[in-house]
Parts: sequence; structure tokens; C-alpha cells
Amino acid sequence: MAFPVTRSRRLRMNEILRNMVRETRLSPEQFIYPMFVCSGEGVKKEISAMPGNYQWSVDRLVHEARSVKSLGIGGIMLFGLPAKKDDAATGAYDDNGVVQEALRALKREVPGILLITDVCLCEYTANGHCGIVKGDEICNDETLELLARAALSQAKAGADMVAPSDMMDGRVGAIRSALDKNGFQNTPIMSYSVKYASGYYGPFREAADSAPAFGDRRSHQMDPANAREALREVELDIEEGADIIMVKPAGPYLDIIRMIRDRHEQPVAAYQVSGEYSALVAAASMGWLDMPGVMMESLIGIRRAGADIILTYFAKEAAKILG
Ligand code: PBG
Ligand code: ZN
Repeated sequence: MAFPVTRSRRLRMNEILRNMVRETRLSPEQFIYPMFVCSGEGVKKEISAMPGNYQWSVDRLVHEARSVKSLGIGGIMLFGLPAKKDDAATGAYDDNGVVQEALRALKREVPGILLITDVCLCEYTANGHCGIVKGDEICNDETLELLARAALSQAKAGADMVAPSDMMDGRVGAIRSALDKNGFQNTPIMSYSVKYASGYYGPFREAADSAPAFGDRRSHQMDPANAREALREVELDIEEGADIIMVKPAGPYLDIIRMIRDRHEQPVAAYQVSGEYSALVAAASMGWLDMPGVMMESLIGIRRAGADIILTYFAKEAAKILG
């Protein structure tokens, strides 16, 4: 039935109607807030490329996590800045490492929020690479064992869920079996299954002090041009035991989120990464875009594409708006 019988504007005429017929909603419970933990005490150091985000020492992190929880946000994703880095990334699987200390403190002091850990070596290797490097190669199989040790150490310290972001082949399986052998059968794995070699990670490398000293990450992260390959990555991770599938970045890859949502039953998470955040914050600070409008629009777009869970540096600001 065409105009004038049909008028699309009828259901847009007032706020109550618009709220009633809205197809997609956001809820703070579905947000995961990424946080950076460093050594020391009393540290709250702003990340210049990500205004409003900080490196926290454990004592200050605990305090901040309480306010994150009180906003109704479902989880925190922890990244560590170790006191020192080496070739074997020992800080990643040190039971007294900075993330492990943070987990114990958060478990004790801030119950009721999900503690999730990023599993990768790049924050802990002196060369900033995600795995063990020999010559100019990032070695796959040698790295798996260390990733499994890191995940296990995090689970022991209190991680409720582990999230491997390294993109080595076989890491979900290696982590699953290490967790299972040690009594952590019920610790879920949220896999960064589809992680593109993206320029949008730029600000994060300052935040986590994890820029590669040489080369780049294209030998393990995906080519932004590929979509069918994303489906293969997801299938492999599901076979290896991934409980939640993540796509990263989010905004430039909405088609990938939708494709996975349509083909798989597992929950889908999307990571709105540092560069997506910083680009909007910078444009808004110039007066070129309006906050909070573009923030909420960017998040609703990711939900509408099919993500169940959103990792976002906007979690707190968005949760405040959602009330
Ligand atoms: C570590 C890791 C990265 C991000 C999450 N985990 C950086 C990278 O792969 O270079 C990026 C997150 C962001 O940009 O917000 N492998
Ligand atoms: Zn990495």
C-alpha cells in the first residue's frame, strides 16, 4: 500500500512512539570496558591518544572498577603493562604479574563484575610482537605453549573469561586444553577470532606500550579485504572450543559481524577499538561532530549489525546515558 494510505512518518511523530517501535536497544550489561593496569601505586596516567582513558596501578584500578560496576557495565577487559619486558614475555605468565595482581585485588574488592583478560604476548615482549620471534618470523607453535600458560595463570588469579587476541593458529585449542587439565573447564574463551591487521589500533599501542619494534602484524592478523576467510577463522575457533566469537575492529567491519551472526549460533562480540574511539573524540573536540550523538549511533550500528556484546572505551559514558 503506497502513499497516501501509507505514511512512514506516522510512527515517528513523537518520542513515545519512536521508543515503542525501536528495533535495536543498547544495555550496559552488554558492554565490556577495556582497562590498562600498570605497576606501582597511586598511578592514574592519562593516555594522550585516548582522552578519558588511563593506565592504572592496581590500587587505583580497584577504585575505578567499582564505579564501572555501579554503572551496570557487564565486564572489564584487562591489559597489562609489566614493569619489565623480555624476549620470552615472562610477565604474561608470571603468577605475580601485573594482571594477575589486579585480578586478585578485583576478585576480592569488586565482586559482581566479569573479569576478562586479553591473552597475548605483545604487551610483555621486549620487541612488541605477539609471539616468540626467531629471525624475522613470529613462530606459531612455540608461542602456543606460552599463551596457554598465560591464560592458565590468569584463570588461577581469578579471570572469569579469557580472550586470546594473538591470532596464532591453534591457540584456542591449546588454551582450552590447558584450562581443562587444571580444573578450569567452566572458564569460557572469548576468541578474537576475526582480528584484522588494522590501522585503527594506533592509539592502543601507546596505551599498552605494545608497538612492534620492527615489522608489523600482517603475518598473523587478517587482511582487511577478506570476508570469506573470516568465516573460516570462526569455524576453526568454534571447533577448538571458542564460546564467544569476536570481530575486531567493529565499525569498519559491520558486514563481517552480520555474516557471522547469520551463520553461527554462538554469541558474537565486537570490539570498537582505540582508533574508532579516538577519531570520534578528536572530531568532537574540534566541534566537527556532536557527542554524545555519534557515540550512541556508533554503538547502535554495531548492535544492529548483530553483535550481542560490545567492547568499547565509551562504555562508561554510554552507560551513563542509558541510565
Ligand atoms: C593485543 C591487542 C591489540 C588490541 C587488543 N589486543 C593490539 C594489536 O593487536 O596491535 C587493540 C585494541 C584497540 O586498539 O583498542 N594483541
Ligand atoms: Zn598481540
